[in-house]
Amino acid sequence: MSDASKFPYFSEENSVGAVNARIDQAKANPRLANVMEALTKHLHAFIKEVEPTHDEWMTGIKFLTDTGHMCTEWRQEFILLSDTLGVSSLVDTVNHRSGNGATEHTILGPFHVQNHPVRAHGDTICLDGKGEPLAVWGRVLSTDRTPIVGATIDVWQTNDDGFYDVQQKGVQPDMNMRGMFESGPDGRFWFRSVRPRFYPIPDDGPAGKLLGALGRHPNRAAHIHLIIEKPGFDKVITHIFEPNCPYLREDAVFGAKDSLIGDFRKSTDAARAQELGFQAAPFFWEVATDFVLAPGKS
Ligand code: BEZ
Ligand code: FE
Repeated sequence: MSDASKFPYFSEENSVGAVNARIDQAKANPRLANVMEALTKHLHAFIKEVEPTHDEWMTGIKFLTDTGHMCTEWRQEFILLSDTLGVSSLVDTVNHRSGNGATEHTILGPFHVQNHPVRAHGDTICLDGKGEPLAVWGRVLSTDRTPIVGATIDVWQTNDDGFYDVQQKGVQPDMNMRGMFESGPDGRFWFRSVRPRFYPIPDDGPAGKLLGALGRHPNRAAHIHLIIEKPGFDKVITHIFEPNCPYLREDAVFGAKDSLIGDFRKSTDAARAQELGFQAAPFFWEVATDFVLAPGKS
């Protein structure tokens, strides 16, 4: 016979207790038990607040089913949903609260690929020749401001049409707008690229349809992605945002932060253009950023 005080019947008042009482604390992984107790508590509170009809609940179930069906090797619709609901940025934020002076983190996004081509300082990552030329200057420093030599700087961005190469296989050259650089003896590196543009996250699936139904646009504020790593330091996953982008304050995935906005400077200086290899362009851009890593376990 079940113990009535240990396993109460289900009621609206006691719904959370009834479900969580079924967890066998002696057998369950303690962290999992903790997570599921909290999830049950918040899900039940949501249902009690919203009071969905059966039809509305089935609409929600169908939405999640469609989200799963949309996932492939190249498309992770659940991550897009997490991103657009601010959950990815919140996970990132609660994991990087330290305020230790390191460069702020932001969202990784789904378009990073392994084994970016290793490139030399001054190389271009733009293989399709489209866009406004940009020279990106960087310095990798420790929180005590000493230069970090031999850090890897993994970069990727969309092309000037607003697509990553992996979204346009056969249209863009493979590894277009991607590169892996290393900081020199003074912690410095530089590469050539093009001014980033805002672009829509993939919005032809359930996450995008939900944005549309809520009157939300799908645009990400213009950015360059970077992952900066050096053994003995905490890895930094971050962006450089373009300061003139109209979507900075309403990035679709809540990744923008003041500290990550780059100081983009436009120039028509012909001698400087020549020096940077931009002689064919009527103007070009430069941005210089310090990236600060905290000593740690990476
Ligand atoms: C990106 O920046 O590449 C990205 C981030 C979240 C969702 C989609 C794209
Ligand atoms: Fe991106």
